[in-house]
Amino acid sequence: MLPPSPDLSTYVEPDRVRREVYSDPAIFALEMERIHERVWIYCGHESQVPNPGDYVTLQIGRQPMVMVRTADGVRVLHNRCPHRGAMICGDHTGNTGEFFRCSYHAWTFHHDGSLKNIPMMDSGYAGTNWNRDNPDCRMKAAARVASYRGFVFASLAADGPTLEDFLGESKIAFDDMCDRAPGGEVEIVPHCFRVIQRSNWKIFLENQLDALHPSVTHQSTGRAARDVETEIEKRTGKAPLAYHMLSAFSTVTIDKWDNFRTLNYPHGHCILTGYMGLRPKDPDTLEYEAALAAAVGEARKEAILSTDIHHVLIYPGLSVQSPLQQLRVVRPLGVDRTLTEIWHFRLKGAPEPIYRRALAYYNLVNSPSTLINADDLENFWKCQQGLASDGGDWVSFHRHFGRDIERPGITETADGMGTSEAPMRNQMKAWVEFMTRAA
Ligand code: FES
Ligand SMILES: [Fe+2]
Repeated sequence: MLPPSPDLSTYVEPDRVRREVYSDPAIFALEMERIHERVWIYCGHESQVPNPGDYVTLQIGRQPMVMVRTADGVRVLHNRCPHRGAMICGDHTGNTGEFFRCSYHAWTFHHDGSLKNIPMMDSGYAGTNWNRDNPDCRMKAAARVASYRGFVFASLAADGPTLEDFLGESKIAFDDMCDRAPGGEVEIVPHCFRVIQRSNWKIFLENQLDALHPSVTHQSTGRAARDVETEIEKRTGKAPLAYHMLSAFSTVTIDKWDNFRTLNYPHGHCILTGYMGLRPKDPDTLEYEAALAAAVGEARKEAILSTDIHHVLIYPGLSVQSPLQQLRVVRPLGVDRTLTEIWHFRLKGAPEPIYRRALAYYNLVNSPSTLINADDLENFWKCQQGLASDGGDWVSFHRHFGRDIERPGITETADGMGTSEAPMRNQMKAWVEFMTRAA
């Protein structure tokens, strides 16, 4: 366990990290307080709550929250009744009608969280300060809420950078996803996969830009996908793109991943380059490209479709694969338990087959039956087991250490070093900054 006043900066060195960072419940509690309950955290997409009263529930750090559509925009409130503390919304999503109503004693609240009524309010609370003007009688609002291109974030801290300043270069995740839509925006597919991982939240984030692991962890799945791809192609004469992207895990050998690059930014955000969308010449793709060109012009279309992104990691809780219109949200539950939600988006104005194709890949890599997730989850669990043991004190992030290219506001990996552990080093650098800022 931690000493009473730990110097957290001693837990992280530029190229290695102590195992307690992943396994100590006291450090986890501090992370929730100093990172997740302070910085901008992704709540959801505006299209999840199109009508007044529509809501989705979520977790920010340890806090149950609810994102709701009001008559004048999207709000994020603490999902807690000010009476005796009951959660107001128990479901993942729904419509609350004209107002929220607590199921315990029927206090009601407007969509903005302000108190509407209390049963027998005049007689029951005469002579007290419990009334509609008392801010303690409302559902507490998140300190700040902002959205970028329809993606809604909240911060539980009243101060700190604006959302756009916080996102910085990582905004490209949302720009790339929306710009690929002929309509210029995306719409969420209103159901997601939820996975509880038996491992620390940082293990998942570190994996997202880990170009070293796919050809190892996912090699056998890639081989199986290659067999299915060949079989389908033989039978139908058409190459199934979703399987093709998966079979790349067996055909792209480990050394090829060094051709990718990582771009590492302040606040822990990182980008792994390496285009994932592919541009086959089938009729569906050509129809889509024509629609995009009609909307934005030929030159702009080429620029959009050439954007070189594999993953964008928005620290500390979001991993976006913009060319495939999917993102993964990380909600830490405990030092060794993490919920991930995997969401998929539809490009507005794109032909239906383009959506179906992206959806097929989304299901292939994310559904409960996928081997991709299963292989990752087993490794995450194994890491957590090892890090909770006395078999060693440190986690190594030495790969290509000392060879990063440092420029103001960005740390890049040099050419031929795509498997660098620079993104992990960058995340831990941000971790120390967040964790020691208020200490
Ligand atoms: S706890 Fe909500 S009305 Fe009593
Ligand atoms: Fe993986």
